[in-house]
Amino acid sequence: MDSYIIESNKKKSRMPARLDFLQSGTGLILGLFMWVHMLLVGSIIFGKAAFNFVAKTMELAFLSDTGQGFPIAVFFAVLTIFTLFITHALLGVRKFPISWKQHRILRDQMQMMNHSDTNLWYIQVVTGFLMFFAGSVHLYIMLTNPGSIGPYMSADRIISGNMWPLYLILLICVELHGTIGLYRLCMKWGWFSGKDAKKSRQTLKKMKNRATIFFMTIGILALLVFVVIGIKHRDRAGERYSKHAAAVEHVQAKEAIPAKEEIQALEEGQEKKEAHEPKETQPADVTKQ
Ligand code: HEM
Repeated sequence: MDSYIIESNKKKSRMPARLDFLQSGTGLILGLFMWVHMLLVGSIIFGKAAFNFVAKTMELAFLSDTGQGFPIAVFFAVLTIFTLFITHALLGVRKFPISWKQHRILRDQMQMMNHSDTNLWYIQVVTGFLMFFAGSVHLYIMLTNPGSIGPYMSADRIISGNMWPLYLILLICVELHGTIGLYRLCMKWGWFSGKDAKKSRQTLKKMKNRATIFFMTIGILALLVFVVIGIKHRDRAGERYSKHAAAVEHVQAKEAIPAKEEIQALEEGQEKKEAHEPKETQPADVTKQ
């Protein structure tokens, strides 16, 4: 009873509300950043030159006389995002079920209610947990290699550096987590809510699903293009993209076509020759004599 009186006399702490606000703010910035990030990475779909232009622009190459760029600019950008990412994740951990028993109760209640927004919250918990590991690996690599972004270096990292499984998991998680997060923010703070709450919720959900499909498609296509470039570039892994390197690749591809055609023609000629040659005569059956 004493403890109850002490508790009720205590001034209500504003901390939980502040932490919630901070989580929403960092989530909003990260969610919008991921959309821009996906569009920038997606430039690889338009070719190596397009991605190279984006990478060089991010390195502020237009400010240098040599066109070399300043990887330190990327370093500070990654440092900022990494700080927001860790802050957001630590704030999110507060809401995780911390024991198997809590998890079991949560799952039972979810099954009982079958409420779609609660199910979305659960997807966010699971994808957030996976992203804590996969996202940290990606960000650490970017932080320690800020000058290694380019069509060949990125593709080599994905294939020769075996990063593609991690990127695939991260891509699925980030697209689900990001769009669900932005949808939940809109619901929580009442953004874009019209007069009819039910209708607004349905519209927002439709937009969320479309955004997930759109960014997931860009991500998968980009990853596929990186995989193709990385496989072709395996023998020269580590080489930077330059006009010279692109020209060498172009010439090699052109040379490879006539060589292929020549081999094919030779094989066809051989087949024709074999078809026209008289069949070997059967040896005489000596047993019949
Ligand atoms: C400023 C911070 C960031 C930079 C500079 C950056 C840069 C890049 C680059 C250059 C790639 C292409 C592959 C490579 O070079 O390794 C990439 C791919 C990717 N990044 Fe980031 N990234 C950042 C933050 C993040 C964050 C916070 C996440 C999510 C937690 C993320 C998720 C991904 C995913 C899923 C891919 C694969 C996309 C695909 O291939 O379709 N990135 N990132």
